[in-house]
Amino acid sequence: MAAQTISKFTRTAVDLPEENPSERVGNLMPAEGDDGLFTQSWFPICLSSEVEKGQVRGEAFLDGKVIVFRGDDGVARVMSAYCPHVGADLSIGAVVGNQIQCAFHKWEYGGDGACVKTAIGDPAPEKARLFKFPTKEQYGVVWAFNGDAPDFDIPNFEYDDDHLAIRVFRFPELLNCDPWVFAANTPDMQHFKVVHKTEFATEDPHDSVTWDDHGFRYQVIAAHQQGVPIEWTVGIRGTSIFWQEGPYGDFWIGGMVGFGLPRPGKHELFAVLALEKGDGSPESKALLEQRFETAEMLMTRTIGEDIDILNTIKYRPGTLTAGDRTLGKFLQYLRRFPRAHPSSAFIK
Ligand code: FES
Ligand SMILES: [Fe+2]
Repeated sequence: MAAQTISKFTRTAVDLPEENPSERVGNLMPAEGDDGLFTQSWFPICLSSEVEKGQVRGEAFLDGKVIVFRGDDGVARVMSAYCPHVGADLSIGAVVGNQIQCAFHKWEYGGDGACVKTAIGDPAPEKARLFKFPTKEQYGVVWAFNGDAPDFDIPNFEYDDDHLAIRVFRFPELLNCDPWVFAANTPDMQHFKVVHKTEFATEDPHDSVTWDDHGFRYQVIAAHQQGVPIEWTVGIRGTSIFWQEGPYGDFWIGGMVGFGLPRPGKHELFAVLALEKGDGSPESKALLEQRFETAEMLMTRTIGEDIDILNTIKYRPGTLTAGDRTLGKFLQYLRRFPRAHPSSAFIK
């Protein structure tokens, strides 16, 4: 799908310190890949529909390569891509039962990543194992956690899955910045007003933002473009999942965007739209279709309004103002966010 073209943003004057007018204000934020580490967050890897039972595919992740395969048991697993024998790429291998078989010498690896057999009968070496990422499938996306064990969950919408109709999109173009840069738009209340033309019905809700160790949420009560009333809960989990839910005019929309991390300085958008599916009658199906069109327009328009800025920004907190209180707190949260790279020896 094509992102909308957006108007160019305007450069405003910057208050530079007098002593050294050439110096940019502010400190750089820690970037993904700095010191070989990445934030310990859930990242989208591919769509569920892109890996059917018995299939394997390769994906770029954390500046390396991983495979996603789905065995007979229907479970999707994300593992390092290179065979520990002599390094063949397992994305051209085959799924055998619930195991992945290397295309080269036909060694097989089980669901936990350990080599379970060689083709010629040599015993499987104990050291021959793949890195197995904690993997989850939710809302039509396969997610992997950068770490040995996840320390938070992917968010759920307020309605159960069987009440919802879900559509999911994988955007074809990579964005030219780390995932957290897009995530930093959610606490950026100034940007909601001026980039997305949202008129808050209340004082800026800085004081009602709920924080925990792995994210935050708050409620936006506002008039969106064309005066459409919204009452959305918006939030970020980890460094790489945006979600929102609540009424848009007369119907409820759930939205989630996972920011994939193929390599430092880039990210990939996986977007989920959820609507109440109704009773299945022809009228409710027609209404659902119409609402999906609106929700998709809203998603495309919103991302379109952000995209040129995200593709060109050199992010650093310089001169923040009172309206940036929640953004400033989020940038502190990002600086402290746990980083690791346990798969580093496996995925390159
Ligand atoms: S390289 Fe995979 S089995 Fe030899
Ligand atoms: Fe935005």
